[in-house]
Amino acid sequence: MTKIRTVGVLGCGLMGSGIAEISAKAGYDTWIRELNDDLVARGRANVAKSLDRAVEKGKLDSNVRDEVLGRMRFTTSLEELKDVDIVIEAVTEDIDIKNEMFGVLDGVCGERTIFASNTSSLTIAAMAAATNRPHRFVGLHFFNPVPVMKLVEVVRTIAVDKDVFRETFEFAKTLGKEPVEAKDTSGFIVNRLLVPYMLDAIRCLEQGLATTEDIDKSMTLGTGYPMGPFTLCDFVGIDTLYYIAEIMFEEFRETRYAPPPLLRRMVSFGYFGRKTKRGFYDYSGEKPVAVDLGI
Ligand code: 3HC
Repeated sequence: MTKIRTVGVLGCGLMGSGIAEISAKAGYDTWIRELNDDLVARGRANVAKSLDRAVEKGKLDSNVRDEVLGRMRFTTSLEELKDVDIVIEAVTEDIDIKNEMFGVLDGVCGERTIFASNTSSLTIAAMAAATNRPHRFVGLHFFNPVPVMKLVEVVRTIAVDKDVFRETFEFAKTLGKEPVEAKDTSGFIVNRLLVPYMLDAIRCLEQGLATTEDIDKSMTLGTGYPMGPFTLCDFVGIDTLYYIAEIMFEEFRETRYAPPPLLRRMVSFGYFGRKTKRGFYDYSGEKPVAVDLGI
């Protein structure tokens, strides 16, 4: 049994909106904080779209959708999160931005509030050590699309209280997820394995091994992956993959985590994947078409 009743979510982008949705769906009163009114409107629309899709598919009753939306409160103020039992941070992968927010919340929230981060690649220690509650700070790493992917990595630092860790682990189950315990090293379990795989696919493309489509086709039809590596890169976001790779390279100093030049170039030109309609594929037409990247 978890004592958690109210949840705060920081950020309502791709991951934050998914986390907010499953939290409210699980019955928690959920506060969602974004930077400004435009981002609040975008976040609210993301959640509504996802719930509407479930209603259209007959997986969710429209009354339940309205109840779920009714449990969500959007705000631009960190102070509104003062009474939540757990804060889950899902903002951009920038340690200074994250630590600034946690710094404010450290003063605003009660001393029993658990802090959690959905970081993909930073260590939890880098955030927990900057607060006055390292013993109440965990990692909760979800996967995109959050409402669909069953896994959550619950990250244990060397400083966390074991009851807080257990409580958070149980909380993850109440969200309908399968938690696994991971140690606090950059990338945890999944990204430790997945990021070098995606970077290797880019290196294969740079070296002219095969075309974008054929590499994707090989990994879907040859190994049963739901998406090929380039479709997955575009899905995760080319910019996000680049930042994750940089942070992991910084942590391990191993070339397998180093962003390949092509990835850098794509970031320079704003080829961020699906979100900008252009990455390894062009998404402006009816079907994605591989982009000519000059290889
Ligand atoms: N929100 C809510 N539901 C969604 C969704 C979304 N964004 N996208 C898809 N779905 C649901 C659909 O409604 C559908 O539900 P149903 O089967 O009950 O009708 C189901 O998921 C399957 O969707 P589709 O039929 O539209 O499409 P696919 O069968 O191709 O599945 C996919 C889509 C689930 C995204 C699948 O391609 C997949 O599993 N891809 C791999 C995703 C992956 O690897 N994610 C992890 C990325 S790494 C990460 O997140 C870590 C970070 O730190 C980088």
